[in-house]
Amino acid sequence: MAANNLQEFVKELRKAGELVDVREPVSAKFEITEIADRVMKKGGPALLFHDVLGSEHPLLINTFGTRERMAMALGVEDLNEIGDRIADLLELTKGPGKGLMAKLQLLPRLVEVSKFPPRTVRSAPCQEAVYRGDEVDLTKLPVQTCWPEDGGPFITLTMVHTRDPENGEKNAGMYRVQRFDKKTVGLHWQRHKTGAAHFEKAKKMGQMLPVAVTLGGDPATIYSASAPLPPGISEFVFAGFLRKEPVKLVKCVTHDLEVPAEAEIVIEGFADPEEPLTLEGPFGDHTGFYSLADYYPAMEVTAVTMRKNAIYPSTIVGRPPVEDVGLGYATERIFLPLARLTMPEIVNYHLPPEGIFHNLVFVSIDKQYPGHAWKVGAGMLGMGLMSLSKVIVVLDKDVNVEDTSEAWWVTLNNIDPERDIRMMPGPIDVLDHSSRAFSFGSKMIIDATNKWKEEGFDREWPEKIVMSDDIKQMVSEKWGRYGIPLD
Ligand SMILES: Cc1cc2nc3c(=O)[nH]c(=O)nc-3n(C[C@H](O)[C@H](O)[C@H](O)COP(=O)(O)O)c2cc1C
Repeated sequence: MAANNLQEFVKELRKAGELVDVREPVSAKFEITEIADRVMKKGGPALLFHDVLGSEHPLLINTFGTRERMAMALGVEDLNEIGDRIADLLELTKGPGKGLMAKLQLLPRLVEVSKFPPRTVRSAPCQEAVYRGDEVDLTKLPVQTCWPEDGGPFITLTMVHTRDPENGEKNAGMYRVQRFDKKTVGLHWQRHKTGAAHFEKAKKMGQMLPVAVTLGGDPATIYSASAPLPPGISEFVFAGFLRKEPVKLVKCVTHDLEVPAEAEIVIEGFADPEEPLTLEGPFGDHTGFYSLADYYPAMEVTAVTMRKNAIYPSTIVGRPPVEDVGLGYATERIFLPLARLTMPEIVNYHLPPEGIFHNLVFVSIDKQYPGHAWKVGAGMLGMGLMSLSKVIVVLDKDVNVEDTSEAWWVTLNNIDPERDIRMMPGPIDVLDHSSRAFSFGSKMIIDATNKWKEEGFDREWPEKIVMSDDIKQMVSEKWGRYGIPLD
């Protein structure tokens, strides 16, 4: 069963040998980054720093840094199990031809999605200590200044909660939050994200936007803030589905947003669309480059609430691989069935960390007709945040796209660049520093499938080299006799 909060998860990780307690005093300025980066690059354990200079809170980092820990966080052995659960549910939506009785028999499974809606509670661990007004002092938190050219300290492993001022829909997004001083922070919701849309609506309606930044909570809820959920799907319902248990929510103390009761720390406040935007950044980002300073809303903090013994969860981003590889891989596996819902010909896809997730997508398909690769490439570019991808490579179903080396090997062999590559303009991730304009640039679809005669290819397409099974078996049996050491 998935842990109920971060404190429980820390105990689970420690018991499983997946966490190291670091008692040596360390600085939140650069030192933790350098330590964590070395550990993340080697796929190492989660780290709990007990003595961060200038703060009473222990700092937890690299919590989700491997596929194994990410699976533990979501209470499964293998992340594909969640994709399978979703695929199972989606079966319900298929086939208008299915009889009414068949559909009725499937109802109990549909209920699984709505079986665990969030539950509101009156008192919560995250409000054991309450600081309002002048008592608020964000410099007491061990907020990391990650990289040498960063514009200041940034809170990184967040859930930023807002509510649509028009229809009341709740959203929680993982957006970095820059600490400007004791009581003011910057909110880095990029223009394609839901928090930014809520802020724009508040501006049009001439309202202040209540915002709450929570740190910690149960691991599935934390993860859900990073997941590219379609608009209208609540992170709390999704987290409830993942956990198979409702997420408990509590009302904030200075406005009426509801936040996870099991969070470690809550930072409440209002973003005022009437106020001028504030320069945020630069920040050493997911791309491995600094993202430039830019103007984002600031938030005046009205209260900080927390557990009495609150742990401060953090992460770093930077040149891959770092901790977000675990979070990104979970999203890839969980969302595969949703991609297949509209494009059942998709066999698998993979967004390699070197491609910073949005720069490169390998997708394998069960090719059925001439031009099929172009249809899927274009279709991928129409799917939610996948639309920000720069390069989509479409391959045949026999290619293991999760093996980046295999995917490139087949791609580079299979393409005649002039014939198989197409470019088009489109929206680009805000973090991209190469595009001709901010968040606008171009995309490339590569058709790396085997070419068919109907596609104008009239030469013979060769087979991949594979040794026959009987020879392989014979050599395996004799291997010890050759005297060749090989792992
Ligand atoms: C560690 C981490 C940090 C992130 N920082 C930001 C950020 O500062 N701004 C942003 O817009 N997205 C950021 N993202 C990506 C969003 O969390 C992600 O796109 C999410 O789906 C947005 O949710 P939304 O659709 O509710 O806006 C970050 C993701 C991770 C894993």
